[in-house]
Amino acid sequence: MDCGKDMDTKMLKILVCVSGGGTNLQAVIDGIKEKEITNAQIVRVISNNRNAYALERAVKEGIDAVCVSPKDYTDRERFHDALLRAVEEKAPDLIVLAGFLVVLPEELIKRYRNRIINIHPSLIPSFCGQGFYGLKVHEKALERGVKVTGATVHFVDEGTDTGPIILQQPVMVEEDDTPEILQKRVMEQAEWKILPRAIDDIANGRVTIKDGKVRRSR
Ligand code: GRF
Repeated sequence: MDCGKDMDTKMLKILVCVSGGGTNLQAVIDGIKEKEITNAQIVRVISNNRNAYALERAVKEGIDAVCVSPKDYTDRERFHDALLRAVEEKAPDLIVLAGFLVVLPEELIKRYRNRIINIHPSLIPSFCGQGFYGLKVHEKALERGVKVTGATVHFVDEGTDTGPIILQQPVMVEEDDTPEILQKRVMEQAEWKILPRAIDDIANGRVTIKDGKVRRSR
């Protein structure tokens, strides 16, 4: 199965979902500017958090940026409807979760099957699943004493961090690492590299899924 879009006929329309600082969003923006990502454009950035610096990054770049906050809705269903609407308005080919701390509505996962990707700051299946987000991932890796960690870009399915893996990049753990230091190294050496690379692969038709596994052609 092909992921993303009809190759060569049009640019891949990307919608990025964020909750925080948006350094991964920035890596994608820079990747497009520097032509490390070709054939792709960001059509919208959505945040659930009005104060997310990621929204400012988008605005600075002239990218459409909207906040869909659960706080503005009386219940989860209405929030989910609003989120779905904010996505569908732009008819994206690919949704990129770049530090998005919201459990996606099942309807969205169904409608965008094999067209949603996520960046996770560990080598899946280590240190992933429910409760493993942000600094916690690195705290747990240090607690366990692993010598190598890293990051993973994967497709999103109904589970937590269970979808087909697209790319992984290992990062060495050092003796005196704190969760914060390790987090920074994983971002610099892995996340900011493999997220743009995965998007470029998808935008240029190099990613297919067979039997639940990703195949990348060169
Ligand atoms: C990153 O560590 C990413 O792997 C995780 O959330 C964090 C987001 O950071 N899913 P940023 O907002 O991109 O700076």
